[in-house]
Amino acid sequence: MKTTCKVHTIDLAGNRYRNPHYLQTRARINSLIDHYMSVEVLSDRLSDLPEQFYNPRARLWESIDWQGIDREQIIGVKPEVFLQILASAAEIEAPIRSYSKESWCYLQHIYPEMARFMGGVFDASGNILEIGVWEKEERQHCPTFRKIYQQLTGEKLQVKPNSVNGFQPTGDAWQDTYKHIISRLSTEWGATSVYLWLMVHSTGALQQAIAQPLQDEINHLAKFWGFSRWAFSQSYFNQLKGSTKNLISLLKHHQIERTHGNDVFNASLRIEQISLMVELTFTFTRVMVRLRRWNRELSRSYLRHLFGTAPVVDAPRKVA
Ligand SMILES: [Fe+2]
Ligand SMILES: [Fe+2]
Repeated sequence: MKTTCKVHTIDLAGNRYRNPHYLQTRARINSLIDHYMSVEVLSDRLSDLPEQFYNPRARLWESIDWQGIDREQIIGVKPEVFLQILASAAEIEAPIRSYSKESWCYLQHIYPEMARFMGGVFDASGNILEIGVWEKEERQHCPTFRKIYQQLTGEKLQVKPNSVNGFQPTGDAWQDTYKHIISRLSTEWGATSVYLWLMVHSTGALQQAIAQPLQDEINHLAKFWGFSRWAFSQSYFNQLKGSTKNLISLLKHHQIERTHGNDVFNASLRIEQISLMVELTFTFTRVMVRLRRWNRELSRSYLRHLFGTAPVVDAPRKVA
């Protein structure tokens, strides 16, 4: 009997509480980061990148118990708020093909292996011959969140894709690529943080389903981070800090679009929105703290061992 009780109180984020207070929620965020973003995991994900250049393979997922997903598995937050964030998670990276083509265009002249990893291989007329690993992994996320949403609500989620800027060269390929990588890093950081938040507020089959795209995002974050450290050999914490604001406002934009015209934003939900922002900001920060700790392990010689001599001699000029 004791064992059954334990199973009900422990989940992938550590101790499970029906109505966690803020400190308990923080403990769950930290527990997930310790497990899924340990220095060992991040190093392992980065060291896999050179292998992906020559033998590209998408990361395997554990199977998802779709029938086991239930609204009761949302914990410590109003289901409406959880569903808003879930819907935003589905929308953030759509349309993925346009995003991967954009990355390919920025990277192909300077880092053809990385261009292939992200965007695949194209023929001279621009037709796709091979889909990139990054795109293969990313394109599973939106349908997964839609299916979870449908399982929780019985309704189909209408996804409104973002508009993609596309390839906009300025004539300075290094600078363009640098800025592009920063924007991809911030998106991966944002997705990682949002999926972590969703796992903190879920348990059981619902939480286990979200753990699959989460591990893809951590995989991308570690690979892009390490690759960028090697390619640009300079710190970009400040640029990333600036982009957190953009990510939060992107999330807000999706939420407002989704709730416009109905009464979901009543007074009690407004209070929930405030604690949501506090928790999300905490999650973003903890993820960055972990990345900075891992960053100390990434010596020049280790990065050279992984990728060879970096083709960039001069650090890029300051990004405006
Ligand atoms: Fe994603
Ligand atoms: Fe990603």
